[in-house]
Amino acid sequence: MCGIVGYIGDQEAYPILIKGLHRLEYRGYDSAGISLINNQGTLSVYKSKGKVSALEKSVEGKDISGTIGIAHTRWATHGEPNATNAHPHFSQSKNLSLVHNGIIENYKSLRAELEKNGMTFCSETDTEVLVQLVEYMMNSHRCDLYTAVQLALKNVVGAYAIAILEKSHPDQLVCARKGSPLIIGVGTTPSGRKEFYLGSDATPIIEYTNQVIYLNDEEIAIMDRTGRLDITNLSNVKQTPQLVTLQMNLDQLEKGGYPHFMLKEIWEQPAALRTCIRGRLNVVDKDVLLSGIIDHKDKFLKCRRIIICACGTSWHSALIGKYFIEEACKIPVEVEYASEFRYRNPVILPDDIVIAVSQSGETADTLAAIQLAKEHGAFLYGICNVIGSSIARATHTGTYLHVGPEIGVASTKAFTGQVITLCLLGLAIAKEKKTLPDELFHILVDELQQIPDKMQWTLENNKDIDKFAQMFTYCKNFIYLGRGYNYPVALEGALKLKEISYIHAEGYPAAEMKHGPIALIDEEMPVVVIAPKHGMYEKIVSNIQEIKSRKGKIISVVTQGDEVVRNMSDYSFIIPDTRDCFVPMLAVIPLQLLSYYVAISKGRNVDQPRNLAKSVTVE
Ligand code: M6R
Repeated sequence: MCGIVGYIGDQEAYPILIKGLHRLEYRGYDSAGISLINNQGTLSVYKSKGKVSALEKSVEGKDISGTIGIAHTRWATHGEPNATNAHPHFSQSKNLSLVHNGIIENYKSLRAELEKNGMTFCSETDTEVLVQLVEYMMNSHRCDLYTAVQLALKNVVGAYAIAILEKSHPDQLVCARKGSPLIIGVGTTPSGRKEFYLGSDATPIIEYTNQVIYLNDEEIAIMDRTGRLDITNLSNVKQTPQLVTLQMNLDQLEKGGYPHFMLKEIWEQPAALRTCIRGRLNVVDKDVLLSGIIDHKDKFLKCRRIIICACGTSWHSALIGKYFIEEACKIPVEVEYASEFRYRNPVILPDDIVIAVSQSGETADTLAAIQLAKEHGAFLYGICNVIGSSIARATHTGTYLHVGPEIGVASTKAFTGQVITLCLLGLAIAKEKKTLPDELFHILVDELQQIPDKMQWTLENNKDIDKFAQMFTYCKNFIYLGRGYNYPVALEGALKLKEISYIHAEGYPAAEMKHGPIALIDEEMPVVVIAPKHGMYEKIVSNIQEIKSRKGKIISVVTQGDEVVRNMSDYSFIIPDTRDCFVPMLAVIPLQLLSYYVAISKGRNVDQPRNLAKSVTVE
């Protein structure tokens, strides 16, 4: 939800900011804007509706010089996506410009108060209220920008990451955060002085420096051209910045010859999962090592219930995690939509462990859910991909996915990374609790190790999905069915199709069909059935019969060598044999490819589907 970039140093800011916006475009892409102070001290703001490329066109021939600037790519919350509502926003005197990611919940009352004091507004956004409030504080308290930001933010309810330029002080950049992410990159100019970068995540920064500071909630930072960086909290108490070295390389942020990030990320899954299990799964000693479990063994031994909070695709992987942990560890697991959990007075008991699953580590609802659980004294475990993200930092311990940056809005490698991490977690807890017989534990360790190779096989043996997918270009509905471990895969397959092709799709537990949805089946309805040889094979075969007798078109995911379901199907995707509990990581691959190629055949923008953003930092 919105991306922020900033720069102050010796270099021209515009190319850095524009490149940064392109890297952050996955966070929001309905409008974009940039603000610069040139060497004559002019503070300019350029904004346009649409993608960053539209902004680039709109500034052709304009003065884009200057070595300090801020920029923004927007996912609209307050006010329709147009150039007026796009960021940066000017203050009334045009002495300040500001970009913001987050939501100011009390913006209406603040705006009314400011209007009473003679301030006028151009946009419908909550952000404009912020910049006007800062200016109002500067004027009414006769203070500098930094103090005014502190004063203003004390009056603000909501979430923000902000960056501000001041025309009359072109040598300094001020930023702050609460609830929305903001990272400061610290580089060195050729003359040996420090230069500073800002980013909503590390992607716009890594090209220039791997030294970063993750700003904490309610911290304000000021950077200037002399290399000064001061951070305080809202009460003006000085904070000591922690410099962190980023583990990321630029190649991970490029498409690497693929037409889309989504396709690249689908094909990256075997390598990504190998990285995820490296050092954690030991086939020689038949062991699983997760430091988050080893270091907090007592918590897991006395835990009576696990609650997993997540949203979207992460909720689907959490459901697979529930099935596995309950089976392997004999601990009851509840999977909660974070957005529901946070508002419904849930019962959280002293020995509960709450796990947050989130690729971005920034999803507002998931973050709020664990904050609530923390207030109730729960022990918090984070399963995140983005290192240093808010959820990773808000939890007591956790496990990173290490699947590399996921840029496509549709989650693919993060999903399988989450599933394999939850399997590792289940095995690590089972080891401590001794809930699995040794022989079975060893079989599961060996089998889990083979999953990346089996994913590779699946990718290489389902290469004609692109041609097959074209049959569904004009299709209006799809149903996805699975049972047991594959019910969440059905949900995930349906979500992937919906979000990038805009075709309506429903995922169901196969046996629930006859309680209603079977009425939808006719010769027009493609039904994707995940029907591996294990699990409830016979049962799912009868579900397929029920659909066939109502003339539904069957697209099945079958185990290699299963001719029975293959012969019953109009089309089949083949996966290698594996344990029932690990099938989701293989079965989801043809479904990811199917949704990708159907979306391509419809001419959709698969990496940036309409109305969506990669990281949902607003509720
Ligand atoms: O970053 P998170 O894993 O917390 O994100 C949760 C969902 O917003 C995300 O999985 C979303 O559903 C994806 N677009 C699905 O592909």
